[in-house]
Amino acid sequence: MALARSALARALPLVPLMAARAAAEPSPSCLGVAAGGAARAFAAAAGGGGGKAGGGPQGPVYVVFGGGGGIGSALARHLAAGGSGSGGGGGGGSGSPVVVVAGLHGDKAQAAAGKAAEAAGGGAGGGAGGGGAEALQCDARDPQQVDRVLQQVVSRWGRVDAVASCVLETNLVTAFNVTQATVKALLNQEGGGALVLVSAAVASTGIPHFEAMSAAKAGVEGLARATAATYAPRGLRVNCVAPGLTRTAQTRGFTEGSPAVRDASRSMVPQHRFAYPDDVAAALAFLMGPSGAFVNGHVLAVDGGLASLHPPAAQ
Ligand SMILES: *[C@@H]1O[C@H](CO)[C@@H](O)[C@H](O)[C@H]1NC(C)=O
Repeated sequence: MALARSALARALPLVPLMAARAAAEPSPSCLGVAAGGAARAFAAAAGGGGGKAGGGPQGPVYVVFGGGGGIGSALARHLAAGGSGSGGGGGGGSGSPVVVVAGLHGDKAQAAAGKAAEAAGGGAGGGAGGGGAEALQCDARDPQQVDRVLQQVVSRWGRVDAVASCVLETNLVTAFNVTQATVKALLNQEGGGALVLVSAAVASTGIPHFEAMSAAKAGVEGLARATAATYAPRGLRVNCVAPGLTRTAQTRGFTEGSPAVRDASRSMVPQHRFAYPDDVAAALAFLMGPSGAFVNGHVLAVDGGLASLHPPAAQ
């Protein structure tokens, strides 16, 4: 056990990846979002200014766990480009958003942050706020690592406006752990905050051979509702997005596999296609941002009608 734990710690050097160049020591216990100048790897694309320290108006601060995956990286792009809507609410200012991409695989998180930074550069309003995107390595199954990410983001940017957990784990405990750490980090800040979890269409409709996933994701939806109920009076919003089968690297077996598998999967969906990561990201961004300010304890299906409609009978 002890061996396993220390091996894990060694395997997960928590370094700010975008700053890898700046040669932060790969100390396993040092996350270092704010580790000196090293973390100043924020995308220049957003217009240069510093964050808090830079003096410009700072936009909302978003953290995406599971940010290296297909949905997470699409979300990072949406958020960086201001896709969550603009205007007040949530405590974020009117400047450019700050997006922290936390992922298990450092290279993927870094790639996602890079694309998000590009999206921020091309987006309207980039510049004055000095937002951008940053990658961090984090195993979201480890509550201490999640805690540390959130603490470092708060100490660097002053607050966290919204957190998304896009961790593709068929494990309810992971969602619970991320929820607990997020509530702790967001609860006592002015203006509250938001958390969005990801469940799945199979949480609310029986699809053969998805027993484990159905059970875990139904649990995630219950977790979101109960947590929302507990903390709504204290300014926290907790919602859930329930996607259908989404085109990502993990689902290639279904979406690009044999024609028989692909067609069978697709024909279950009333809209007759799979979700794109951007479909799911748009819903997540809505729930995280000021446009979703009065949506709480909701499960938003993004599944082409899979869980709620019957396809027309064959003609
Ligand atoms: C959840 O957190 C507990 C400690 O609070 C830890 O022991 C456990 O491994 C975590 N599990 C998962 C699946 O994240």
